[in-house]
Amino acid sequence: MASIIYPGSFDPVTFGHIDIIKRASRNYDLVYVSVLDNNQKTPLFTVEERVKMLQDVTKDFDNVIVESFSGLLIDYAKKKKVHMVLRGLRALTDFEYELHMAQTNSIISGGTLETVFMSTDMEYSYLSSSTVREVARYHGDVSKFVPDSVLKCLNDKFR
Ligand code: PNS
Repeated sequence: MASIIYPGSFDPVTFGHIDIIKRASRNYDLVYVSVLDNNQKTPLFTVEERVKMLQDVTKDFDNVIVESFSGLLIDYAKKKKVHMVLRGLRALTDFEYELHMAQTNSIISGGTLETVFMSTDMEYSYLSSSTVREVARYHGDVSKFVPDSVLKCLNDKFR
C-alpha cells in the first residue's frame, strides 16, 4: 500500500494545502496529514485547533488521516512505517528551504525517507498561512484563501 505523509504547520490550513491533499489522496492509498506540534514556535492556533480544522476540511476524503506529531519527522515516519514525505512547492523561493529539508531528512534517515514535491496549483501560488494570518489579524477579507469553517475560526480569534 502506497502511503505518504504531508507534514506542516497548517496555521491555518489554506486552499493551497487542501489542493495538495486532494491531489495526494487521488495518487496514494493513504495520506497522513501531520501537524507539527512544536513548542518552540508560537502558533496562532493550538495544535488541537489545527488538527480539528484539517479534519473538518478533509472529512470527505476517506483515505486521509489527520494527526499531530512532535520531534523529528523521520522518527514519526518510522513509527508510521511510511517512507515518503510530500511537500508542496509554490515558487523558486520555496525551493532552497525545501531542498535543505528533503536532503537533511534523507541523510538523517540513512537514505530511507524520500521527499516528493507537488507543484501548487497556479491559483494558489501566492498563498501562505502567514499571509492569511496577517490579513485576518487586521480584519481583511480572507474568504478567497480559506474555507468557511477556517474563516469562522479566524474571525473568532481576531474578534
Ligand atoms: O509548514 P511548515 O512550517 O513549512 O512545515 C515544516 C515541517 C513541519 C515540515 C518541518 O519543520 C518539520 O518536519 N519539522 C519536524 C522536525 C524535523 O524533523 N526537522 C528536521 C528536518 S529539517
